[in-house]
Amino acid sequence: MANITRRIGLSLGADICWPICYEALMKQLDLKLSIGGDTISIEVERVYIEPFDLNQDCQYDVVIDRLTHWFQVSREWIKKAILVNDLYVYNNPWSIQSMEKHTSYAALLRLGFQVPETWMIPPKEYAASADLQSTLDKYAKLFDLGDVGDKIGYPLYMKPYDGGAWVGVTAINNREELHDAYNKSGTRVMNLQKGVVPSDAFVRCVGLGPQFRFVNYDPGAALHDRYQMDYDFLPADQAQRLADTTLVINAFFGWDFNSCEGMRQHGNWHLIDFANACPDSQVTALHYHFPWLIKANLRWSIFCAATDRKMNTDLDWHEYFAIADQDIPFEEKLAGYVKLARRRFDVDAFEDFCATHLSELDEVAYDFFASEIMHDAIRQKVTSLFPVQEIDTFTELFWNRVQEWRRIEGSGS
Ligand SMILES: Nc1ncnc2c1ncn2[C@@H]1O[C@H](COP(=O)(O)OP(=O)(O)O)[C@@H](O)[C@H]1O
Ligand SMILES: [Mg+2]
Repeated sequence: MANITRRIGLSLGADICWPICYEALMKQLDLKLSIGGDTISIEVERVYIEPFDLNQDCQYDVVIDRLTHWFQVSREWIKKAILVNDLYVYNNPWSIQSMEKHTSYAALLRLGFQVPETWMIPPKEYAASADLQSTLDKYAKLFDLGDVGDKIGYPLYMKPYDGGAWVGVTAINNREELHDAYNKSGTRVMNLQKGVVPSDAFVRCVGLGPQFRFVNYDPGAALHDRYQMDYDFLPADQAQRLADTTLVINAFFGWDFNSCEGMRQHGNWHLIDFANACPDSQVTALHYHFPWLIKANLRWSIFCAATDRKMNTDLDWHEYFAIADQDIPFEEKLAGYVKLARRRFDVDAFEDFCATHLSELDEVAYDFFASEIMHDAIRQKVTSLFPVQEIDTFTELFWNRVQEWRRIEGSGS
């Protein structure tokens, strides 16, 4: 019988809008959770960057991290806090550091998912290093780039093996364009990937813990319109397939928060980009979908903090491979992977927890997303991104889309 405070740390970079909303909603919820005879409350703080001693305590039970993929000091602090202080963090920093896009293609291929034909090619140029010339002289085979392109077929995509945010991605239609793109690629190590062309749908499935959101994604639209506002637009079986796929990917790699991009061709989903372990969380991109993200983030982080969830740093890939290697149809394999993934994410316990302890969230959130704090959070984010003469227009645009979410979905989850 004790009063226990659990602390959630937000390890942030350029994030503006979602932490404001997350913190404000947590405050409004003012949770006093009765768990195992104890009363548990939750505090949220921002994590600051400062020197740290390996031996020092960590004041957080859970950290939601947005920096690990590029900011070394925070990544090393997090790794130390997991190892020394039993911190739970999303996402697993070792996995983010080592599982690039290319690894994720290889893993899903092994598990039997549909990944377009993908090659890796040695880079056009190398940064100077002591052993470079002797290594290349002895072991780098001359290759005919055009032959590789012909084998894959056109159109194909050249993209960095570890890429994100569309940097360095080129659509290529013939040998000439392939050579041209390669000549401009510098030191970046590139994948060539068969284009999923034509396709009749492009969906980004965002997973946060065992919660999923499907976004009809228009890659050709302006940034603020790429996430289309459609709701409930997929046939139930396809939505289930994408949710299962994202759940399995995230469990396999130890990512609590990640998004999976799939393109549909002749009724099948081809996975093109699913190593995004710091997904876009800004209201200026998500707008209509933003409230879902905030609520999902609150639910999962509160569950992790309140139940003192332990970080499982083992990925247990052998369990997946044991299924992958059986001579059974893919549907059966997928069902096996989903079982493993549901166990890893404690899906049943999470759903019970939400039903028991977070039933108020819908109502509190419904009011919150029409509040002045929400409006101001949008304005702050817009101000950081848009030219001064567009601030009013875009603040209202995103505000109206959030209100549209309230109208259509606001009273449910
Ligand atoms: N194999 C592919 N088939 C069709 N389009 C692709 C393919 N690969 C990439 N693209 C297009 O290029 C965009 C960026 O590629 P993606 O792999 O998603 O990289 P990033 O990690 O930078 O988002 C995608 O949103 C899609 O429009
Ligand atoms: Mg992408």
